[in-house]
Amino acid sequence: MMNVLVLGSGGREHALAWSIAKSPQVGDLFIAPGNGGTVQCGRNVPLDPCDAEAVIGFSKDQGIGLVVIGPEAPLVAGVADAVRAAGIPVFGPNADAARLEGSKSFSKEFMIRHGLPTARYRACDCEADALAFVRETGAPIVVKADGLAAGKGVVVADDLEEAEEAVHDCFAGAFGTAGSSVVIEECLVGPECSMLAFITDGEAVCMPCAQDHKRAFDGDRGPNTGGMGAYSPVPAVDDALETRMADIMRTAAAATKEEFGAGYRGVLYGGFMLTEEGPKLLEFNARFGDPETQAVLARFDGDVLDAFLAVAEGRAGDVRPSWSDKVSVCVVLASGGYPGSYEKGKVILGIEEAEEMDGVLVFQAGTSYNADDELITSGGRVLNVVALADSFEEARELAYEACDKINFEGKQMRFDIAKRAIEV
Ligand code: AMP
Ligand code: GLY
Repeated sequence: MMNVLVLGSGGREHALAWSIAKSPQVGDLFIAPGNGGTVQCGRNVPLDPCDAEAVIGFSKDQGIGLVVIGPEAPLVAGVADAVRAAGIPVFGPNADAARLEGSKSFSKEFMIRHGLPTARYRACDCEADALAFVRETGAPIVVKADGLAAGKGVVVADDLEEAEEAVHDCFAGAFGTAGSSVVIEECLVGPECSMLAFITDGEAVCMPCAQDHKRAFDGDRGPNTGGMGAYSPVPAVDDALETRMADIMRTAAAATKEEFGAGYRGVLYGGFMLTEEGPKLLEFNARFGDPETQAVLARFDGDVLDAFLAVAEGRAGDVRPSWSDKVSVCVVLASGGYPGSYEKGKVILGIEEAEEMDGVLVFQAGTSYNADDELITSGGRVLNVVALADSFEEARELAYEACDKINFEGKQMRFDIAKRAIEV
């Protein structure tokens, strides 16, 4: 039996904990800090996931055999390096490799160095240069804060004025230090699609594609969010396209070995735009996506812990995931006002009723318990309702039926998640 520690507190971490808890090999499962849902899978521990010393101390005390890092912040902070150096297997890349997510300019340079297809760009660390480049190129154009901004540091500007304002906002500190330099990119057109791959020592084992819905409102309108829903697989991706994307991920994996040695053991998330010229990379993330993971792991058949351990120990040949033929649809229930300001502390009702439905899973994200032991909202993205079915029509119907059973004041969701999967 193996004791496992999962770091993070979102819907992704609930999905990770849920899938690990199903493994017959798991002993004690801990989630730090976890949320109102992860307590169903293991024990929440009040550790700061970015505090490497605390994570190592806890892991030694509890005889942890594997640490699984969910979010980007601990990766960028070097928690994987420290835990690895302490002799504990870790699922998650070292800090230098996590710059693929932590710095957009580093990531773009990496893509160019290794011949990976991506949008043309310019990195600028002064406002005047950035404005000059924006004016020279014209709209539409994409302005990205260089550092981590929780998926919200990107503006796709349809006109010059909006682009100039985005540049100005970045340098004025709208994203803190994340915006002290910017990447300005050619605007790519096409459907988006993510491909996640297990990466260990230069090898990639790709997962089925997933599609996120980043904008807040139906019809891809409104501001960018952390993600309002996802589905998997992606019918717009035929076999030839999937092969091409997997080739790109394999090239990227080999490049991680060249640049970071054995330091990349975890997931690499390729965010693609499927352009007329072929798939092009929009970004890399150094971790599982949220909410893509909820849609993808729901389809994982077999023992996830085997795969995670093999990745953490550099045994690429032992990473042999298999996937359900069912399709999945994940709808995010968010707090009213998200991604802007929103209220917390709203009592959540109806989760059990939703979970009783065949084919429905509810992963929790921004939830906690109040003094009366009631489940309450505590974040922007509150719940992820996942439905598994034989077709996207059925999965959508099931997911939205389940969403209707759940209530909290201000509940906000998109009603068009996976609609595109049906229209293909
Ligand atoms: P990123 O964090 O880089 O993935 O960007 C967030 C979102 O902005 C992406 O999911 C796309 O919807 C959009 N985006 C980013 N880069 C581009 C681009 N070069 N062209 C068009 N849209 C983009
Ligand atoms: N859903 C996008 C992300 O996890 O970055």
